[in-house]
Amino acid sequence: MSLVSLLKKIIHERGYPLSMSIEEYKWLHRIARDAEPPFLEVGTHYGVSALIMHTANPTAPIYTVDNLIDYGGDKPGAMPSDCGILVKNIEQVHLRIGDSKQVVPKLVEEHSFGLALLDGSHWKEDVLADLKNTENIPVVLIHDAGAGGPLDALEIFQSLDIIHQQFEMLPAAKTDLPFDIDVNGLAIIDRRNKHDRF
Ligand SMILES: C[S@@+](CC[C@H](N)C(=O)[O-])C[C@H]1O[C@@H](n2cnc3c(N)ncnc32)[C@H](O)[C@@H]1O
Repeated sequence: MSLVSLLKKIIHERGYPLSMSIEEYKWLHRIARDAEPPFLEVGTHYGVSALIMHTANPTAPIYTVDNLIDYGGDKPGAMPSDCGILVKNIEQVHLRIGDSKQVVPKLVEEHSFGLALLDGSHWKEDVLADLKNTENIPVVLIHDAGAGGPLDALEIFQSLDIIHQQFEMLPAAKTDLPFDIDVNGLAIIDRRNKHDRF
């Protein structure tokens, strides 16, 4: 099944909203396909992005963290128990409940992640903690990195010189699909050798 068909199925048949634009999920798919497993995610929500990473790289273990703070607003009747519902039966996907500030440090101690997707809290202190806790992961994607979002934290992070690598916004191409949502910006920190970078 193509990525777009999968996203259509999630929206139209299963009724779950997307948090990212189609273009951003395409970038996530492309990057997860070629990244070194295992993968880490902050912000599981219903599991759309975890499902995309799994579809791109089916054998990769994925550890996804959520503190259950954000359910219901975008889907009437949704409950915290809907966290990760789209990936609950996938053996490679491991749901971890808790605040990323507490859970991520333990996970990075136990696993050598090749890719992280940060899409949890957008509070500056939380984003800074997520960035700091993932600073040894070679490829880190940050969603909603547009102005007023985690980009502010990224700038602080850079000016503190905690990371030396540049981050850049992935190009946000438009799509004609009727269910696309606004592009909020997906940034990538790629700490690998130049010739390996996405
Ligand atoms: C925008 S949604 C994630 C969407 C998901 N990545 C996707 O594309 O399907 C953000 C999620 O982060 C969770 N969250 C917010 N603050 C968090 C924190 N401090 N630690 C862990 N999860 C958090 C919320 O409960 C929510 O489910």
